[in-house]
Amino acid sequence: MKLKDKVAVVTGAAGGIGSTFVKELDKENVDCVLIEKDEESVKRLISSLQGKNHSYFICDFRRTSEILRLVKKIKRAYKKIDLLINVAGIGVYKSIEDIRLSEWEDSLAINLTSPFLLIKKLIPLLNKSESPLVINVGSGAGIMPFTNRVAYCSSKYGLRGMTLTLAKEYEGRKLEFCLITLGSVMTNFGPLSIEDRKKGEKKGKSYFVPEWVAKKLVGIIKDNKREVEIVLFPSNYEEEVKISTWL
Ligand SMILES: NC(=O)c1ccc[n+]([C@@H]2O[C@H](COP(=O)([O-])OP(=O)(O)OC[C@H]3O[C@@H](n4cnc5c(N)ncnc54)[C@H](OP(=O)(O)O)[C@@H]3O)[C@@H](O)[C@H]2O)c1
Repeated sequence: MKLKDKVAVVTGAAGGIGSTFVKELDKENVDCVLIEKDEESVKRLISSLQGKNHSYFICDFRRTSEILRLVKKIKRAYKKIDLLINVAGIGVYKSIEDIRLSEWEDSLAINLTSPFLLIKKLIPLLNKSESPLVINVGSGAGIMPFTNRVAYCSSKYGLRGMTLTLAKEYEGRKLEFCLITLGSVMTNFGPLSIEDRKKGEKKGKSYFVPEWVAKKLVGIIKDNKREVEIVLFPSNYEEEVKISTWL
């Protein structure tokens, strides 16, 4: 797929992975529609970009009504969308005994229901594109169980199920779906800060840097022969998560 002048809606746009990915899209002359919860961080990001046609919308994915309002605003502003990339997510790492119902509900709302609603409501705009593509950022926690991550694993298993189902549902049609099943990345995601992750790295745990992930995502989008699910695990990831000493 040629990226120049394509329109990409990116959620989690100012996060660790989202912001580096948006910078790569900017270099490729993609017009980005940045979706974020926090206005300050997205304003800072947009002012660092070269492209003049980027826009942003603020939305808290915990609230369905806000997502529906967001969709209306996007539909008013854009006639066509080429890419929808669902990056936003939260990581509540708690046992079933400790987790609150509200944390479970937020995890499902942000990690699973927001991509569902955005896909469902933006299909008409995606179908205006010659080669529309939806990318959902999943996790190793969507194909392997991790202890004390009941909400995170459940939401990412759900995201995987949804993406693979939609890929099948749309087989032979132009709208394509792709799931990125991603291992550990050096960001502040979930309860672990970058400093915590750096400590783990010193003890031998491997992390991707977000810049590598961002470049890889752009390569995946450009690849016309991409698989429906692409697994990106840093070295030893499967062994490490089995041992679970870092978790
Ligand atoms: N880092 C990893 O090791 C790793 C591994 C596998 C998969 N992933 C996946 O990669 C994605 C991005 O993670 P990251 O590492 O870039 O972490 P991050 O820096 O914490 O980014 C998370 C993004 O989600 C947004 N978000 C959180 N709550 C939201 C809400 N209520 N409404 C709307 N947006 C919300 C955040 O916005 P605010 O900052 O404004 O809250 C932020 O932009 C997630 O889906 C995660 O599951 C990460």
